[in-house]
Amino acid sequence: MQEERFERSGTKERNLAIELVRVTEAAALSAGRWMGKGNKEMVDQAAVDAMRSALDGVDMDGVVVIGEGEKDEAPMLYVGERIGNGTQPEVDVAVDPVDGTRLLSLGIGGALAVVAIAERGSMYAAPPGVFYMEKIAVGPAFKHVVDINAPIAVNLDRIARVRDAHIDDLTVVLLDRPRHQETIRQIREAGARIRLITDGDVSAAIQAAMEDYSGIDLLMGIGGAPEAVLAAAAIKCVGGEILCKVWPRNEQEREQFKADGIDLNQVFRADDLVKSNDISFAATGITSGELLDGVQYFGWGARTSSVMMRSRSGTVRYIQARHRWRKGVH
Ligand code: FBP
Repeated sequence: MQEERFERSGTKERNLAIELVRVTEAAALSAGRWMGKGNKEMVDQAAVDAMRSALDGVDMDGVVVIGEGEKDEAPMLYVGERIGNGTQPEVDVAVDPVDGTRLLSLGIGGALAVVAIAERGSMYAAPPGVFYMEKIAVGPAFKHVVDINAPIAVNLDRIARVRDAHIDDLTVVLLDRPRHQETIRQIREAGARIRLITDGDVSAAIQAAMEDYSGIDLLMGIGGAPEAVLAAAAIKCVGGEILCKVWPRNEQEREQFKADGIDLNQVFRADDLVKSNDISFAATGITSGELLDGVQYFGWGARTSSVMMRSRSGTVRYIQARHRWRKGVH
């Protein structure tokens, strides 16, 4: 499972991604206890508390850019909160303590704890009121052929040609939402296969972008704007592409966005969502999915499965960890 493209030998660079894995592991270990208990609030609370306290130990001067909301609605990991132990480097921090709170609360696979960091000022913060983006995410081979403004059949045809395949060999992943009815109709008409997921489009975007063929050729559809930035951070590490546009939920929102000067035609690429080329990304599985295994608990401790990535080297590491309980912990 290990993919390594070796970094410049002999250099002694700090690898913040390794520290970030400890952060996502802490969130997963804590939130995993709430699997299947039907309580989305506690799932989130457990992950946020653990992630927040683990972030305190990371050597960085971080500002939360993608977090749990504004200060008045989130006591921890709110947008603008300073985190880390205050030492260099100065970074933007994007967190999703649980991507897939519903999955976790119902015990369905695919929930992840996710963190990304990049140079200060480099992450895209969606304007207030913007919750969703239309997205297309692909791996490195297709990054130059997809166009979010092109008809779906055209994108699928271009991808099929690059893959030396037919459109009906392709698999598109989408969130299972009523808003995707028309997109699904067009994908079906073009002939591609579809995988509908109930939640978790960060994981799906990463799977689409991974060079090792995951069985998913592209992610399409409308999902969270914060999740687009987190996915872009990972995708810049693996070399793929994500294209996004702000998506208003209704006519009223469309008018409001226009009045606020938000350009609904602007296409954001991964480079616009995270401008830095020094990105560290980590994710730990909470419930078992196709990207990562979930947390397993034992009397002596627990096992976790994580992925960490760095954009500078392009290294992707999979980390299986055994955690031994300390007395009074967990
Ligand atoms: P949370 O677990 O953070 O709520 O997000 C789950 C998720 O499925 C994201 O992966 C996705 O981008 C977003 O929700 C889609 O939003 P919605 O459920 O409102 O369609």
